Amino acid sequence: MSVHVVADVHAKVAVLRTMLEQRYVITSELLNTASIPRGKLESIVVAADLTVVENIAALKAISARLARVPKRVFLIDGTGRLSVVQAYALGATHVLSNPVNQKQLLARLADTEAQAVSAVPPESGGSQEAASAGSASIAAMFSAALNGTAVDIAGTRDAGSRIADSVAENGLSDWLSTVRRHHEGTFQHCLLVTGIAVDFGLSLGLSKADVERLSSAAMFHDIGKAKIPLTVLDKPARLDDRERALIETHPVVGYDVLKESPGISPEILDAVRHHHEYLDGSGYPDGLCAAGISDLVRVLTISDIFAALVEHRTYKPTMSRQKAYDILLGMHGKLEKPLLHAFRDVALNR
Ligand SMILES: [Fe+2]
Ligand SMILES: [Fe+2]
Repeated sequence: MSVHVVADVHAKVAVLRTMLEQRYVITSELLNTASIPRGKLESIVVAADLTVVENIAALKAISARLARVPKRVFLIDGTGRLSVVQAYALGATHVLSNPVNQKQLLARLADTEAQAVSAVPPESGGSQEAASAGSASIAAMFSAALNGTAVDIAGTRDAGSRIADSVAENGLSDWLSTVRRHHEGTFQHCLLVTGIAVDFGLSLGLSKADVERLSSAAMFHDIGKAKIPLTVLDKPARLDDRERALIETHPVVGYDVLKESPGISPEILDAVRHHHEYLDGSGYPDGLCAAGISDLVRVLTISDIFAALVEHRTYKPTMSRQKAYDILLGMHGKLEKPLLHAFRDVALNR
């Protein structure tokens, strides 16, 4: 297999060649003159300092070509949250920080688990494009939340609709495999929740307008996580009490980010704030009980938990859909029973 390397300086190309040459055929270019060769490329590694304006401009110039490569690993300098978000906005499917070690990089490129979860069925081009557009939109939204600039409400809603169209056309299984194969972390999660919520809405026979409400709510639901440090958000081990408390601030943080945005609807704000509430009052942040939790939020919450369970992470095997559904069934009193039963077909078959 071949890997194409694009880097902002010669030294990075040399280091990457040394790391990868034993296993892959390497081609390379410098970023400022990069064109990305035509033809079938499976993977590309982009190594660039994303705090440099010229590098961002150069990557934008080749973004269409870049998007045709299924696996796009970005190596960024430092661990700044903005650079990570920037990398995803520029089309990364995976992001690693320099200095990267060889083992990490080879694992990302091989990532056999990701290939295993997507072994069947073959994914469609349409879902890959909808996922890339969705990921870029979520990245832009996170970046706006971090910078305190305006969130593109209409653009995010449109990206959600595109996902809805893709799921309606290609089915949920296709969506799950595409997203789990090509996206990671919070972006993967938000894309999965959106696809699952849409499919749940379709299976319930909801109107087009309601399915759009769901896709929008799902796209926005975890926007508050933009402000949670990645060391906590992506921690591969169990969270301590302090870290858990920090994560649990994200519904209110997200609500605060969005509440002044022109064009945001009250039901989306409600979904952002309340997607971790449970019918028995044991959820957060407001400890709502059944009567205070809307239908839209109930559908979103089931989709959210299921998505979190079936997420693909590099450090552990992916949970089966059956096991994830069994866990939902075991959450007595927290989720609406008839809805959960209706979810069975989405969880297991569609
Ligand atoms: Fe959440
Ligand atoms: Fe979530």
